Amino acid sequence: MIQTTPRPAGSIPITLLESPLGKVRIDPAPGGAPLAIDQFGRRINYLRISLTDACNLRCVYCMPEDMQFMSRADLMRDEELLTLVRVAASLGVNKVRLTGGEPSIRPNVVEIVRAIAQTPGITDLAMTTNGLLLEKMAGPLAQAGLKRVNISIDTLNPEKFHTITRWGHVDDVWRAISAAEAAGLLPIKLNSVVVRNFNDREDMIDLARLTLENEWDVRFIEMMPFGEITDFQQTNVVTYAEMKQRIEAVFGPLEETTYDYVDPSRPFRIAGAAGTLGFISSVTEPFCQGCGRVRLTADGKLRLCLLREDEVDLLTPLRQGATFAELQQLMLDGAYHKPWGHGLAQGLVAGNRAMNQLGG
Ligand code: 5AD
Ligand code: SF4
Repeated sequence: MIQTTPRPAGSIPITLLESPLGKVRIDPAPGGAPLAIDQFGRRINYLRISLTDACNLRCVYCMPEDMQFMSRADLMRDEELLTLVRVAASLGVNKVRLTGGEPSIRPNVVEIVRAIAQTPGITDLAMTTNGLLLEKMAGPLAQAGLKRVNISIDTLNPEKFHTITRWGHVDDVWRAISAAEAAGLLPIKLNSVVVRNFNDREDMIDLARLTLENEWDVRFIEMMPFGEITDFQQTNVVTYAEMKQRIEAVFGPLEETTYDYVDPSRPFRIAGAAGTLGFISSVTEPFCQGCGRVRLTADGKLRLCLLREDEVDLLTPLRQGATFAELQQLMLDGAYHKPWGHGLAQGLVAGNRAMNQLGG
């Protein structure tokens, strides 16, 4: 837990800040409202909310098989979560992504989506899901205001899919993709975490091939180390450079498409393909300069960086009766201290939470 030392007095509006990119100009906040801005001048506009740490799968790169989940009393209740979303929106957050664990297993998820979608200031609402429940839920979620989904699929091979998820069926994911398309949750993004000697050869090629005919964005993710399974994760990481090389060996040079420095995924296209390919190189080439995201864990802590342990507890003050203005201040002060860069090269691994508690 970091100390929530206030950011320096008079720091809103800030005009010039030192950052690892040099001096950064910060525009005054519209209407005089304080906007969440960090000490490097990054505007915090993106909140990723873990609705639950529980999941209906147990992917080997995500959690141990005997994972203990949080007790219900520790989780944010619906109205607490919605209060914190309103606080974030009042500070300039306009994008929300729901993650987990598996967000779709949270009771009441459709109503939560509806309430977030109606929160003034929130213009983009997406979900990262394993898709198991999407066949039934894609329609209701879309109607409630969900705009897009990212669906996890690490391999098209049914046996390997079963092994990597410990019990999943890849057919469920195919049905999820069709349901998401039918519900208009577009563009479809497919996420694959690449694990050495597991899905780093023909599996990657098969996934990449999907983009030839489909307007999907297939994204290959470098496995990141968290929690108790960091040895496995660090031993078996496949770098972005290696992934790209393997795909190019089969499909020829990838064409670069526009990189906006906000999406962590570096976008490419196989020549003539309908869809795109992306690489998320969080380990070897982190994208800190474009990072305007903070996370809300299912137990109500503001997590400032996926790969750093720094968190600010918001749920305890909320339960102790903190006012809206006090919560705003806690969020602003927390966001101000958002770290820059992970410490993996120095052997610093964020061990306090497993991935299922952070939601990617
Ligand atoms: N490294 C990178 N991504 C991970 N995910 C889960 N565990 C890891 C990890 N160790 C991804 C999932 C999903 C999202 C929730 O996070 O595949 O896309
Ligand atoms: Fe569940 Fe996603 Fe973790 Fe797999 S990666 S266990 S689907 S939260």
